[in-house]
Amino acid sequence: MTRLKHSRGTVRDAIVACLDSTQGGASVADIRRFVETRIGVVPTSSVRSYLRQHPNIFERTQHGRYQLRSEPVEAIDETANKSNDRMEPVLVWNQAALYREDCFDWMERREENSIHAVVTDPPYGLVEYTEIEQRKLRAGRGGVWRLPPSFDGHQRSPVPRFTILGEADFEHMRDFFERFGKGVSRVLVPGAHVFVASNPLGSHIVASGLAEAGLESRGMIFRLVMTMRGGDRPKNAHEEFSDVTVMPRSMAEPWLLFRKPLEGRVQDNLRKWGTGGLRRQSESRPFGDVIKSHPTRLAERRLAPHPSLKPQAFLRQLVRAALPLGTGVILDPFAGLGSPLAAANHLGYHSIGVELSSKYIEIAMMALPQLEAIKCPEPDTPGDLGAFDCRVC
Ligand SMILES: C[S@@+](CC[C@H](N)C(=O)[O-])C[C@H]1O[C@@H](n2cnc3c(N)ncnc32)[C@H](O)[C@@H]1O
Repeated sequence: MTRLKHSRGTVRDAIVACLDSTQGGASVADIRRFVETRIGVVPTSSVRSYLRQHPNIFERTQHGRYQLRSEPVEAIDETANKSNDRMEPVLVWNQAALYREDCFDWMERREENSIHAVVTDPPYGLVEYTEIEQRKLRAGRGGVWRLPPSFDGHQRSPVPRFTILGEADFEHMRDFFERFGKGVSRVLVPGAHVFVASNPLGSHIVASGLAEAGLESRGMIFRLVMTMRGGDRPKNAHEEFSDVTVMPRSMAEPWLLFRKPLEGRVQDNLRKWGTGGLRRQSESRPFGDVIKSHPTRLAERRLAPHPSLKPQAFLRQLVRAALPLGTGVILDPFAGLGSPLAAANHLGYHSIGVELSSKYIEIAMMALPQLEAIKCPEPDTPGDLGAFDCRVC
């Protein structure tokens, strides 16, 4: 089926018209049929994306149908969209600028060929950062959040539960990353690298979306870290199948590595745009694809309480490698509390972050300078896989 390209506003307005004319909400299939009578063919996944990306307008009922919200919620994205500071950063700290906005809108406005690398940890379930799920996270109950087993007597922070994602969610995720890949390609200079945090269950979907958008795969970086995923015996049959593990115990976090196609050879691209390769760790040591790490330490999490915070020790290595000549601008379109920006500041790189949630932006204002100041040894000991631990954590 040929997909027509509709502007974001056209689809959203057609959905609003549909829900405005129904009582008790409508299913995604019904909404799609209505929308198609108005504006032509629209994939179900796109309708679902619009419904989920505007939790301040659309509400999911208990029966899995959607309806218009009767009252606007105190919505994170509302603040961003109505704010007069859309064009201006809400925070400038050293060489980092943070914008409060939907990154897709920001990337549409941004000048083409003006970003030299992306280092980002995107939302994965794609619903976990909606206001509804964030409320459930704060309440400590329900939603996509799962509390990992306590470890060494320490209660661990909630993490999103990916295993509840179904076929439709994966389709939605693929579309999301294709759209993201296209948006980001526009603003990247040729040869710019894109580092995307991923997980073993969804990395193939993210990779397919990014490749479909025209970015080329350059492999994966493995952050060696013991996560709490996998390693369990079959649920409710532990004793019967005591020698079985359902999924490998995850000991690495994969980061996808993509690149915008080069203009000419690597050397031509480096001369013209300053990108195309990765910065070596030292003269004798190239940047490697395995990095020893550790779960983000308590001291760092206290400074920057975000459910997905990555350690500075690790991020500094990625951010450093991302600019082969040490010059250019790094973008984190899903900035959270700005941990890659803090890493960039620490290294003296220019960086830009975009974050939808005003709550996270508020915390970032305090956290960014402190994360930047954390002391970590440099990864220059040959043979240690580039590991460097955080002294103050
Ligand atoms: C996995 S977290 C990133 C955490 C970050 N690396 C840190 O250390 O704080 C993803 C972030 O993306 C934000 N987000 C989700 N959708 C967004 C969008 N369309 N534009 C900008 N930010 C978005 C969420 O609010 C969330 O803070």
